[in-house]
Amino acid sequence: MEKIYNTFGLEVYASEYISLRSVEEAQRVLPGLKGKRYFIVGGGSNLLFTGDYEGTIVHYENENENENENEKIVLHEDGDSIYVKVPGSMVWDDFVKWCCENGYWGVENLSYIPGEVGASAVQNIGAYGVEVKDVISRVYTVEVETGTLRTFDVSECRYGYRDSIFKKELWQKYLVVAVEFKLSRVAMPKLEYKPLNNLWLNENDNDNENRKLPGLMEIREAVIGIRKEKLPEVGEIGSAGSFFKNPVVPVETFEKLKAAYPGIPHFDAVDGVKIPAAWLIDNAGLKGHKIGGAMVYEKQPLVIVNVGGAKAGDVVELAEFVIETVWGKYGVRLSPEVNYI
Ligand code: EPU
Repeated sequence: MEKIYNTFGLEVYASEYISLRSVEEAQRVLPGLKGKRYFIVGGGSNLLFTGDYEGTIVHYENENENENENEKIVLHEDGDSIYVKVPGSMVWDDFVKWCCENGYWGVENLSYIPGEVGASAVQNIGAYGVEVKDVISRVYTVEVETGTLRTFDVSECRYGYRDSIFKKELWQKYLVVAVEFKLSRVAMPKLEYKPLNNLWLNENDNDNENRKLPGLMEIREAVIGIRKEKLPEVGEIGSAGSFFKNPVVPVETFEKLKAAYPGIPHFDAVDGVKIPAAWLIDNAGLKGHKIGGAMVYEKQPLVIVNVGGAKAGDVVELAEFVIETVWGKYGVRLSPEVNYI
C-alpha cells in the first residue's frame, strides 16, 4: 500500500501508485488501466479521500522535474498576446510567479492557489474576480482508454463555476498533460474585488486622475497577503481550500431570505442570486464547530480544517452537519467543492 499525498493531511493509502514522467509514458501506460479502478490526482489539494483507495493512483510528474521550471514553458507571441504552453505537472503558483516576473498579465489574481496546472484546467480555479477559463486557450490531454492525444479548444471544455467537461462527462477519462494560456503584455488589472480595489483607490486622495495602476508584483503580493490572512497555509494546517461552493438560489428564495436577514450579502449570477456560503455558515453559528479532528475554520468558515489527527469520517460527518444545519436554517443546500473519492 502506498500513502496518498493530500493537503487535508489524512492518512489514506492506495493499492498502487503510478507516476508518469512523460507524455509518451502516459500514452503507453494509461490504456493498461482499462477495466481497473484508478484515479488521476494533481496536487491533491482539492480531494477528500473518504477511506483507503482500492485501486491505482495516477500522477503526471513530467520528465524534467529537476530542470529550471522556466524551460518548461513554450512561448509564442502575437501582437500583445503571449501564448504559453505549460506542463500539467507544474506547480500552479510557480507558473503564476513566472508570469508576474515576466510582465505577462492574466493570472496574477490567481496567485498562491495550491495545486498544479493540469488540475487548474479541470477544476476551473478562481479567485478575486478571475477564473482560469478566462485565460485558457487550449487543454492538451491523453485519453486514458486509448492513449491517444487530444487537444481541447477552450470552447469544448464547457467551463462553469468550478466546473468543466473534465468534471462531468469526461471525469477521469483524460489526463491533462499541458495547458495553453493566452496572456497579455498590456496591463489589465482586475481590481473589482474589494480588498484589491484599495490598491489604487487611495482613500486620502480624492483626485482619481492621479491614481496609479498597481503592477503585477504589487497585485500578486496583495493577493498573497489576503489569502494568508483568510485561508489556512498549505503544509501547516490540513485543508482542501473552500470545502463548499457558493450556492446560487432562485430570485424568489433570495427575496424570502432577504426579508428574514436584511444584511445578507449577495451577488448577481446568470441563473439566480449567488450567496456566500461563508456567510450562511458563519451566521448559523458554525465557526469553530468541531467533530473529532475536523473543524470549521474560524477565519474563513467555507473551509474545513484538520486540527490534527482528523479521520476522513470526521470531515465527512462535519460537512454533513454543516449542510444539514444550513439547510434547516435557510432552506439552501450547500454542495461540496472538493471531490469526494
Ligand atoms: N463571510 C462571512 N464570514 C466570514 C467570511 C466571509 O460572512 O467569516 C462572507 C462575507 O460576506 C464575504 C463573503 O462571505 O464578503 C465572501 O467571502 P470571500 O470574499 O472570502 O470569498 P468566498 O466567496 O467565501 C470565494 C472562493 C475562494 C476565493 C474567494 C475570493 C468559492 C467556493 N470560493 O470564496 O476560492 O479565493 O472567493 O475570490 O467560490 C477555493 O476555491 O478553494 C477558494 C479559496
